[in-house]
Amino acid sequence: MPQSVRIAPSILAADFANLAREVKAIEKAGADLIHLDVMDGHYVPNLTFGPGLIKALRPHTTLPFEAHLMIAPVDPYLDDYAKAGADLITIHTDSGPHLHRCLQKIKSMGKKAGIALNPSTSIAEIQYVIELVDQVLVMTVNPGFGGQSFLHNQLSKISALRALADKQSHVIDVAVDGGITQQTAKLVIEAGANVLVAGTAIFSGGEAQYANNIKQLRA
Ligand code: DX5
Ligand code: ZN
Repeated sequence: MPQSVRIAPSILAADFANLAREVKAIEKAGADLIHLDVMDGHYVPNLTFGPGLIKALRPHTTLPFEAHLMIAPVDPYLDDYAKAGADLITIHTDSGPHLHRCLQKIKSMGKKAGIALNPSTSIAEIQYVIELVDQVLVMTVNPGFGGQSFLHNQLSKISALRALADKQSHVIDVAVDGGITQQTAKLVIEAGANVLVAGTAIFSGGEAQYANNIKQLRA
């Protein structure tokens, strides 16, 4: 069963006009890593930011950065995110023509490799790449937007992934992303997730609330 639960605030829900301050505040509040949602308006119907912003934020916190790349094709841009300071680079199974090659590339740059599964994506997709994967990110909403409702039918996927992860000879984190609240956090942790990505639930109520928001997700 899962080790200690790590909390990854998604800055998608932070104040974009004050991101350096937000990142510092969330570190102080007890976050374990920063989740950066990169969207291209093509792979997902929304646009956010790219490597320039990640690079600019890098000096403002010592927390690890996860770049969650919702872009297609993802292949030509991996280098940029590594250079910008991402420690973990997460790609979707269907965001490039050569998933295995992309994961090899991420590892060859000395970064951790994450793979994201959309709600419709089966675990079978990762069977032949699992040795390259450090984290599987289960999308518990359709990617593209914060503030959506948690898809309960993903819980069985989380349990199956936990069982699969525990059988591997290397550590694989099971992460969840989307619709995480105090209520759904409990369900995903019970199902075997050990990394929780959350935007709305963390960046609400103002800076003074962040520590409490994080604590409630861990509980
Ligand atoms: C959705 C993003 C999520 C999003 C989560 O495509 O990958 O990281 O920010 O937001 P909440 O926690 O509001 O569902
Ligand atoms: Zn995300």
